[in-house]
Amino acid sequence: MLPYGRQVIEEDDIAAVVEQLRSDWLTQGPAVAKFEEALCGLTGARYAVAVSSGTAALHLAALAAGVRSGDTGVTSDVTFVASANCIRYAGGSPRLVDVDPRTGHISLEALRAEVARLKSKGTPPKVIVPVDFSGSVADLEGVRAIADSVGAIVIEDAAHSLGATYTARDGATRNAASCAHTQMAILSFHPVKHITTGEGGAITTNDEGAYRTLLELRTHGITKDPAKLKQVDGPWYYEQQSLGYHYRITDLQCALGLSQAKKLGRFVARRRELAARYDKAFAAGAFPTVVRPLGQPPATVSSYHLYVINLVARAGETLAQVSQRRRALYDGLREKGIGPQVHYIPVHRQPDFVAAGLANGDFPGADTYYAGCLSLPMFPGMVDGDVERVVDAVGSVLLQNAS
Ligand SMILES: Cc1ncc(COP(=O)(O)O)c(C=O)c1O
Repeated sequence: MLPYGRQVIEEDDIAAVVEQLRSDWLTQGPAVAKFEEALCGLTGARYAVAVSSGTAALHLAALAAGVRSGDTGVTSDVTFVASANCIRYAGGSPRLVDVDPRTGHISLEALRAEVARLKSKGTPPKVIVPVDFSGSVADLEGVRAIADSVGAIVIEDAAHSLGATYTARDGATRNAASCAHTQMAILSFHPVKHITTGEGGAITTNDEGAYRTLLELRTHGITKDPAKLKQVDGPWYYEQQSLGYHYRITDLQCALGLSQAKKLGRFVARRRELAARYDKAFAAGAFPTVVRPLGQPPATVSSYHLYVINLVARAGETLAQVSQRRRALYDGLREKGIGPQVHYIPVHRQPDFVAAGLANGDFPGADTYYAGCLSLPMFPGMVDGDVERVVDAVGSVLLQNAS
């Protein structure tokens, strides 16, 4: 089965982990700091705090942003549930905002309206969590302007976009998770992501205060900083000064992450080549009448965590009918040994969000996007022939059925 995504582990990655196993450090040690330094190099952010998962990174970022019980926060309706759950973990209520169905990115118009609505109710959001959907960077400056109008902190969910860039309004090229226009960003190193540590994640920031808070939250809220201690009993002394977590990543994982970090450029270049091959194939012949590759926002160069296509709706077709045809395509590809995936079921459809009263709003963009979306195989270990095989399989299901 050709999956939609998978890790690329090479001999030197294996050697790096084996070498780490022979060292003194298995849990948090010097490799964590080295990996964090590498992440600063890859993103351009001043600080990075590596943690046990992207979800843990989101949770700590929400806490560091000051989200507490009774607060509101805002994120996109088309994302992995963790982008919204982090607000809940911190005691707040997430508000879901509709997306542009062509790009899957948060709609700035809907965001502006939701933030104004929350402000008028006296509950302006504490955080806004834009998602770099599929690997292209959200309009962070647009989001930041809206956030600044109510004093909200912006946490860029860059789980999909390590290695992506965007052109800022001043013409400068910025990296995803550089925090040039946000207070914090989060990354994930799950095996389908650009580089992997098995499980793992990180928060990046340029704010020293947030950095210090994140370091403490990662380890139970404990500090050994002499400048912060209320008293000193001896060299063993530490204090828990806030409620933190055990979200540490290990040296074993960071040894793999460091080895993988050196390959990010090569991995992203390959993802872009594969995307260009798909784009070219889906622009040819009758394909444009049946499928449309996900639109890319204008000012960003994607690092293609995902390659998403959307079915083109036929005249008069309902979303349920589009969704039925997407199901047929999904099944047809699986029969041919190809494992597509759907990213994502809109968060407002999740029963737990409905039960918690967190699914209110209008989401025509998300529903339209969801009905016809399908993620095709995209990972740097694919050969060119894999793309051709997938394109042929899509054609044989959709174009035969269309005729
Ligand atoms: C957009 C987004 N945010 C956050 C996460 C959470 O990352 P992790 O799986 O490392 O906890 C994911 C994971 O797939 C994701 O896709």
